[in-house]
Amino acid sequence: MRFAVFHLLLAAFLVWRAVLPLEVRRGVKALLSLLIFAAASFSFWTAVCFGGLLSPELPRSVLIAGNALEAFVVFLALIALLREAVIFITVMLGRMGERAHRAVQKDRRALLGMAAASAALAGSGMYEGIRTPDVRDREIPIPDLPQALEGFTFVQLSDLHASALLTEPFMKATVERVNALNPDLILITGDLADGTVERRWRDAAPLGALKARFGVFGCDGNHEHYGDYEKWRRRWDELGIRMLRNECVVLEGLGESGRGRIALAGVCDPRALQFGREGPDAAKAFGKAPPEREALRILMAHQPKYFPAYREAAPFALQLSGHTHGGQLLGMDEWVARMNGGYVRGLYDGPHGAKLYVHPGTGLWNGFPLRLGVSSEIARIRLVSASPLKVS
Ligand SMILES: [Fe+2]
Repeated sequence: MRFAVFHLLLAAFLVWRAVLPLEVRRGVKALLSLLIFAAASFSFWTAVCFGGLLSPELPRSVLIAGNALEAFVVFLALIALLREAVIFITVMLGRMGERAHRAVQKDRRALLGMAAASAALAGSGMYEGIRTPDVRDREIPIPDLPQALEGFTFVQLSDLHASALLTEPFMKATVERVNALNPDLILITGDLADGTVERRWRDAAPLGALKARFGVFGCDGNHEHYGDYEKWRRRWDELGIRMLRNECVVLEGLGESGRGRIALAGVCDPRALQFGREGPDAAKAFGKAPPEREALRILMAHQPKYFPAYREAAPFALQLSGHTHGGQLLGMDEWVARMNGGYVRGLYDGPHGAKLYVHPGTGLWNGFPLRLGVSSEIARIRLVSASPLKVS
């Protein structure tokens, strides 16, 4: 709802400073203003009339067109805001008079230029947001990595958000791309689907085709708690995705020598507490795990924010998270970091030599479906030793 109010305020500003001063007929101004307000309120109407902002049930083409138009208005308003700021400064400095200011505002060509730039930003942002993600190779140095796990490689997916926007074909294409890597292990760090099982099953079902020698594991994200939590729990089991909720599995026989061991744990998402469900407990998750010297400990936790607290609660070498979607737009980093304990995307160092990888998201949620400068990804993660290998 806050987004809706923000968008309407931007639309009002756009009409006030860019449409009303134009030298065109009043009817044209009225029509332009109406179109701007209609586009700016798309997410408001989808939230109110079509099943909520989380998972509006509209055809994909309508969601793409509506979201792109809304983004277009937002970009145009921001460019108009920038133009007004530049004009204000130049007028204050005495470099431009009031008459010249009004001439700029009246100029139709200036507005058309701004509209073209906004259309390019909104179009490329939508395309980047919903296209099939690329494979990105990530190398994570782990202090005292057991030699048997040197070079061990697995796939991390995160924030798939199966929805009316990211539908069956998107999931199928992503799964095909992952399976083509012939991965040993696939980990999914939360936010798998938005909406009810009835509505979304067809879109999420392709995830059942994910194949990995040592299995497919996941942890809950905050979005799991907004839908049919209990029904989805059973469905993930049916699809062969083992969700770890404050629990751990020990994977044996990993690496080229076949002697590598990983204690893989997942924590519940903090949002669970709001719904009377079990909250995250890293100590419990690793409660039955072998000691660190016997198995490399990896934790899946959807939200990166609690990385230091989890590491204080239980020893582990690596935490894998998602949730931030990498900020989605370059320039949003500071705002996203502020809400997520300083973490946005990529690799971070933590207490006791632990590492955190924040995945930028394989998909995104319908409420804000744009990416600019921050691509979605299928992360192929290779573990390497952070210190020289010990020669025995
Ligand atoms: Fe997400």
